Amino acid sequence: MSYVLNMDREDPTSRKQSLQTDSDGVIVDGNRALSVDSEYPHKGSITFQGLEGLGYLTFCQVKSLYSAIKTFPEVCHLNAPLVMSIRSIYSLCRLAARPTFRGLLNSARNSELSITRQIQNTGLRSGATAAFAADDDHTTITRTFPTSHHSLKIGFQDNLACNFYYIWLRDNCQCSSCIHSESKQKMVDTVSLDLNIKPESYHVTENGKLKVIWPDGHVSFYDPDWLHKHGKDFELDSYDTVHDNLPPLTTWNGEVIRNLKPEISYKEVMETEEGLKKWLTNMYKYGIAIMKDVPRQKGEVVKVMERFAYVKKTKWGSSFDVICEPVQNDPKHLAYTGMYLELHTDMNYLEKSPGIQALHCLKANPASDGDSIGGQSFFVDGFYIAKWLRKEHPSSFHTLTSTLVEFKIHSHNMEYSNHQYVLCASKSGHLKEVHYNTRTMAPLRGPADAVQPFYEAYKLLGQKMREPESQFAFNLVPGDLVAFNNRRILHGRTSFDPRRTSRHLEGCYGDIDEIITRCKSFLKLDSRK
Ligand SMILES: [Fe+2]
Ligand SMILES: [Zn+2]
Repeated sequence: MSYVLNMDREDPTSRKQSLQTDSDGVIVDGNRALSVDSEYPHKGSITFQGLEGLGYLTFCQVKSLYSAIKTFPEVCHLNAPLVMSIRSIYSLCRLAARPTFRGLLNSARNSELSITRQIQNTGLRSGATAAFAADDDHTTITRTFPTSHHSLKIGFQDNLACNFYYIWLRDNCQCSSCIHSESKQKMVDTVSLDLNIKPESYHVTENGKLKVIWPDGHVSFYDPDWLHKHGKDFELDSYDTVHDNLPPLTTWNGEVIRNLKPEISYKEVMETEEGLKKWLTNMYKYGIAIMKDVPRQKGEVVKVMERFAYVKKTKWGSSFDVICEPVQNDPKHLAYTGMYLELHTDMNYLEKSPGIQALHCLKANPASDGDSIGGQSFFVDGFYIAKWLRKEHPSSFHTLTSTLVEFKIHSHNMEYSNHQYVLCASKSGHLKEVHYNTRTMAPLRGPADAVQPFYEAYKLLGQKMREPESQFAFNLVPGDLVAFNNRRILHGRTSFDPRRTSRHLEGCYGDIDEIITRCKSFLKLDSRK
């Protein structure tokens, strides 16, 4: 449970650090950012070498100290919680190595607030700003001063202080001649702005806004909340971490999802706002939701999709029928046979594969005499599997997030093809998409040296998702509808004997944007309550 981080004292951002990866929760991305998995914040520790006076910090201590120290921007860059750059950690341990600080280190279990006060009392940062205010909702600008020909520094009541570049401020003026009042679209011609633009003057007005007067007489007002929000982004190590601020997802294996039971009735979703919210929340958090008692009529799946998303028409039409009858000739697709369908995501060969898939069961033979007739559906959370890979086999995780794979299909006299990463992740390790379908994967191209590691990683991922514990398996019965995020959840089906079995599913695809957008707003609202 311990990581050894070799710090280069001369240049904390140099590539000399190394990280042992024999434990949970920590990855080093490009030798730069170290992130502590929020699921395991208290496991493990970090040992710093090359610095006197410091043994190790537990993650909890790092987190706690970091929260305290981040209010001192000169010492430490502000990052999203639990994500720290090597430079930040370096600053932290330099500070922690000072004798005055070692007492604080021992009491790191104290509340962050009191640690912050103690740090202030030690006078580590002379001329500290206004008294520390804990998470005040009310944002105020406490100071402004120029830092260069190109930027000014703005300090806020929570001790966040950030550089705002003049060109950025001018480009993002919020006045009604720069932002269209109704469409809220930007009307500034960014290209024509002077790169060396500098305000004639600026000050904080009585109602707390930043007022800037530009050389051409244009006047801009900036709301402190708005500045604070963007200031925080500026202090992040990468733009990616902004996305990490989305409401958290719940990743699952079979047991977890069976306990969560993301089921809801057709009536509830179609007729009540509460039901719709529950449905959307399940779709967002778990990537999968099941609807019961859907009328067994064709066209219902489209109606359901239209309740929360836009139907995405594909070469298969607005909806498609997966019909297996005892007598059927010449199936156009393997799904229309009784063959075992290994876990996959659909249509990775499109420029953007569908975000949602919904399948409505209209007909299925009941299992007789305890004899499984097959045709069982099973689902796996690709994000759960990817997180496992990141933890257990970081280099394989890296391989799958950095090797482009071509997905390809010949269909309807067309050849569709697109390149994707099997795992799409941000620099900070935040998972965005999974693209996995052995049936449509074209021969791997690229450097020969990349071949063996790719197969190794692909096999590890595939084996993990095939473990029964990873899977959520059930027989769809007529009236069931299952919807899932096709860029996160993999789906498959066990084989069945098409001579003995009739099965009819109607499916359709949808865009995921509406789900994300709506969930983002109400999950954020909920978290503020
Ligand atoms: Fe499929
Ligand atoms: Zn303006």
